[in-house]
Amino acid sequence: MQHENFLRENNARHFWHPMAHPAEMLETPPMIISKAENVEVHNIDGQVMLDAVGGLWNVNLGYSCEPIKKAIHDQLHQMPYCNTFRGITNDKAIELSYKLKEWFHADGMEKVFFTQGGSDSIDTAMRLVRQYWKVKGKIDKIKFISLSKGYHGTHYGGASLCGDPRFRRNYEPGVPGIFHIPAPYTYRNPFDESNPEELTKKCIQSLEALISSQGADTIAAFVMEPIIGSGGVIVPHESFMQKVRKICDDNEILLIADEVICAFGRTGEWTGSRLWGVKPDIMTIAKALTGGYFPMGATLMSEEISETIEKNNNALGMLGHGYTNSGNPVGAAAAIAALDETNKLNLASNAKTRGSELLMGFNQLKNKHRTIGDVRGKGLMAAIELVEDPETKKPASKDVVAKIYKTICDEGVLVRASGNNFIISPSLIITKDHVQKIVSAIDKGFSII
Ligand SMILES: Cc1ncc(COP(=O)(O)O)c(C=O)c1O
Repeated sequence: MQHENFLRENNARHFWHPMAHPAEMLETPPMIISKAENVEVHNIDGQVMLDAVGGLWNVNLGYSCEPIKKAIHDQLHQMPYCNTFRGITNDKAIELSYKLKEWFHADGMEKVFFTQGGSDSIDTAMRLVRQYWKVKGKIDKIKFISLSKGYHGTHYGGASLCGDPRFRRNYEPGVPGIFHIPAPYTYRNPFDESNPEELTKKCIQSLEALISSQGADTIAAFVMEPIIGSGGVIVPHESFMQKVRKICDDNEILLIADEVICAFGRTGEWTGSRLWGVKPDIMTIAKALTGGYFPMGATLMSEEISETIEKNNNALGMLGHGYTNSGNPVGAAAAIAALDETNKLNLASNAKTRGSELLMGFNQLKNKHRTIGDVRGKGLMAAIELVEDPETKKPASKDVVAKIYKTICDEGVLVRASGNNFIISPSLIITKDHVQKIVSAIDKGFSII
């Protein structure tokens, strides 16, 4: 490691940090992490923190998963790179495609297209959907609908789907033909509706109204996260996704489930779609696919989509799409090992049990601290929304969020501050003691206000 002084002097000086104002990073440089073990990270000040962010929703197996490390090491020696463009392939990509087909069979997914991450997976899904409708001769079906709080990455297609204007505004104009409906967010919504079932009905009515005003024959797909993650962990009523599925079926609109966060057990089920009992037409995955040890993603599709394109006999079926690292053998080797470990440790089950404990702890904190306006969660994805006053629901100031955040860090737990939310998404291997540590550190954080 470089000398500490060198790191401090050069911190945030030569590269821009994602999702941050560069000036702010220069003024308040980020914490420098230089080591990670099990579910903990170490900063250069010697502080060890339980990583309750789980990397960034991706280090599901913690930082010390030897089988993934070994698989990457062995593959680097065997063959560090091999493309999968027309006419060539590699053994690990083939093996992984088989495993993914098995893993996602229950969701109705039959074929895989490999990508380099979540944003790629979403844009791949959007392109394949448009191609599907072209092959079917429905050339007007080009528009997309998504949820107002949803997050779908930062490529132009995905960013245009993002519900939060923070991810679109500075880069507009985005992709035309993308529309949003209100998210099933009971704490704040345009209908002032706090009953989850009633809110579902109202969101679905908005969807129906939008489809009828745009014309179902112009809409290619509806895109949603089964549980909105980065937008503040918004857990819909159990009927929401099923109702969306029905509207899509009734109007010949495809359903894309963005499972970049939810897949591989985070919600307490193996996929978010399975949690809600829905089979989408397309799924996007990334993040925990390799446990965060290698950047890799995939877009999965149903037999109806794959067969339609495979059976096409003109140039419309040609995939003019792909990435240098589609099916990278090192990524594939990491993913094969990660899937085996995820299965062996039954991470979905641990996420469910630990998630209930975590949510119970957070609900107790909500009764204790007035700065906590709302608490949401399912499995090991949770959010605490900070407010100035629970009556007015005015979001807590940046200053208050920063002070509480610092205290939580000082107590040895790393959470993610996003606007006026703390987002908690630890590794899925955490224990009951880890849960207690997270709840207790957050309790101390709120106690300073
Ligand atoms: C639901 C969802 N979709 C897509 C993405 C984009 O993934 P990536 O950052 O790997 O491009 C993310 C990232 O957080 C995400 O949460």
